[in-house]
Amino acid sequence: MNDRKIYLGAAFYPEQWTPAQWAEDIQLMKEAGFTVARVGEFAWSSFEPQEGEYRFDWMDEAIAMLAESGIQTVMGTPTAAPPAWMVQNYPEALRTGEDGRKVQFGNRCHYCVESPQYHGLTRKLVSAMAAHFGPNPAVIGWQIDNEFGAACHCDLCRSAFQQYLQAQYGSLEELNRRWTTSYWSQTYSDWSQIELPRGKHNPGLMMAYRKYFTDAYRRYQQLQIDALRASIPATQWITHNFHGSMNGLDHFQMSQDLDLVSYDYYVGSGNNDAALSGMKWDLARGLKQDNFWVMETQPASVNWSTINNKLNKGEARALAWQAIGHGADAILYWQWRSALNGQEQYHGTLVNQAGKPRPFYEEAAELGDDLQRIGDLLNNTRVAKNQVAILFDFESRWSLEHEPHHKDFDYWSGVLRYYRPLQQMNIGVDIISPEADISDYKLVIAPYMIVIDEQRASKLVQFTNRGGHVVLTCRTGVKDHDDAMLPQYPPGCGLERIAGVEVEEYYPLEHALPLKADLFNGAAHIWAEKLRQLKLKLVVPMARYQPGNGWLDGSPAVIYLLFGRGKAYYVGCILDAASQEKFLQYVVNELHLKPPLADVPYGMEVCARETDEGERYYILINHQNQALQFNFPEGSYEFITRSAYRGVLKVPPYAVAVIGKYESEIEES
Ligand code: GLA
Ligand code: ZN
Repeated sequence: MNDRKIYLGAAFYPEQWTPAQWAEDIQLMKEAGFTVARVGEFAWSSFEPQEGEYRFDWMDEAIAMLAESGIQTVMGTPTAAPPAWMVQNYPEALRTGEDGRKVQFGNRCHYCVESPQYHGLTRKLVSAMAAHFGPNPAVIGWQIDNEFGAACHCDLCRSAFQQYLQAQYGSLEELNRRWTTSYWSQTYSDWSQIELPRGKHNPGLMMAYRKYFTDAYRRYQQLQIDALRASIPATQWITHNFHGSMNGLDHFQMSQDLDLVSYDYYVGSGNNDAALSGMKWDLARGLKQDNFWVMETQPASVNWSTINNKLNKGEARALAWQAIGHGADAILYWQWRSALNGQEQYHGTLVNQAGKPRPFYEEAAELGDDLQRIGDLLNNTRVAKNQVAILFDFESRWSLEHEPHHKDFDYWSGVLRYYRPLQQMNIGVDIISPEADISDYKLVIAPYMIVIDEQRASKLVQFTNRGGHVVLTCRTGVKDHDDAMLPQYPPGCGLERIAGVEVEEYYPLEHALPLKADLFNGAAHIWAEKLRQLKLKLVVPMARYQPGNGWLDGSPAVIYLLFGRGKAYYVGCILDAASQEKFLQYVVNELHLKPPLADVPYGMEVCARETDEGERYYILINHQNQALQFNFPEGSYEFITRSAYRGVLKVPPYAVAVIGKYESEIEES
């Protein structure tokens, strides 16, 4: 990997413009303090206008022009946009939609991920690109394809799924057993009978399909990694830009083969929710437990939402700094300039169709200025160690998506429910895989971890035993990796040892159900479980259901259990926002967890990044469209304005500060 700097840039499509226009564009990029451009990711028809006829010289020229202005290049492989000749010469390589029809040329992701023809074309093009652009020192890294995730329903994919199942299950008897196929006569007597799911299907099949789908894209990604690695230098990294919703694929697995995670984050309509973006940055960082790139984010607005309003002035800069605070080493806007035609004419850009700066350009230039002012301060820094982990589990998410059982039971909002109060308290969180090492944390929250196995359970039990605190929630430990119900009261597989309860019954709620607790007198909504305390356990109820449907009256809703040297909570319902906040405040206080800086007002976020030597820099962001008061820490220095402030400051809306110890600046100068 290169030296880790903080980059600023945009997606740039020289194939849409003339070299004279590139020069103007690049001049404006330079003036805005841009240091990177992402190119090439949809340029297949320009790179290979006819099969086997490669043209890279025009791009060399663009890269050279960028480099002359101090702008480095990330090269995209254009496989998300196969050209018309490919579709004509290899119609079988076109993707098949859920309706069984081949998709139409003219959009993106219209390839079959299993197609041997497509694999061949990809390998040839990517190898040629690697050989050509690899030696170019201005190319710092590669992005494979673009936002993986389109499903193909062709016969080839179907038989690939069947082969995958054969490898995973070994025998049909095993598969039939694990999917309980005697139900509705779903029993298979031949592998070839198994279909790709269209809409609802057996949960075992749907879960297996998600894993197969991940495997298919992972193999396709690896094909490109191999083609690149055959000729590119080790200093050039390889990434993929994951879609904001992280749909369909197990992103922990997809990330394993990449050098770097990139993530695309768009607000869409309305204003940014800082807890939501914070959570997503933390998950992007958690995928490889390392810094990541924001490969795309919106310059003011998008074009695909219900109302494509522009973010407030200053809001995108605050969002960019938040991403940096959470571990981003680059912010790239999508896109630089509005294409004259094509499907995204009205999307936000830095310069308009005439190549003239739009109002947002100034804000991006301010960010460029910020980064120039802080210089190499944040180079090679990482997010300071956090004491709280949230476990994010794609299998549990899929299980919930397949059977939410209540229209409002959604995995993302469920995780956010636990993340938001922590973010508001400025308690840093790592969002990691349930398979990751948790031993160094003080608090582990496992929201809605439906899928459990002995390993996951015993890890949490041991963690608690050694003094860790754990928060378990409703719908935890219900199913196995085949999305089959475990034949026991949830939470199963030994997790009951720290849950202290077994779930006798679950009640999706139509109306809020009042709760009584010492900490809060709120309500349960969406979901409530009837918990039975296990005997011989020191289980302490923290909240009880008040009269409602009769089934739950007076029974415990939230409990804690002292176990070994630690403590575990079981939250058997979804709490209203205020109660959830009080509950998490209690959990945080019990462990004496503290934000990185004291006295940061509500609505302002503080993140900490540090060097390997432990030198810390705090990034402060006012996420509000209003001024806040902040008591500037004594003996500190602000690196953007290059000032040491004293006392209470009025912090303007969306303002950002980077502060550190005063001495570090003195040492530098
Ligand atoms: C996605 C794509 C981009 C662009 C943006 C528009 O994230 O990766 O190419 O289409 O959406 O918001
Ligand atoms: Zn296919």
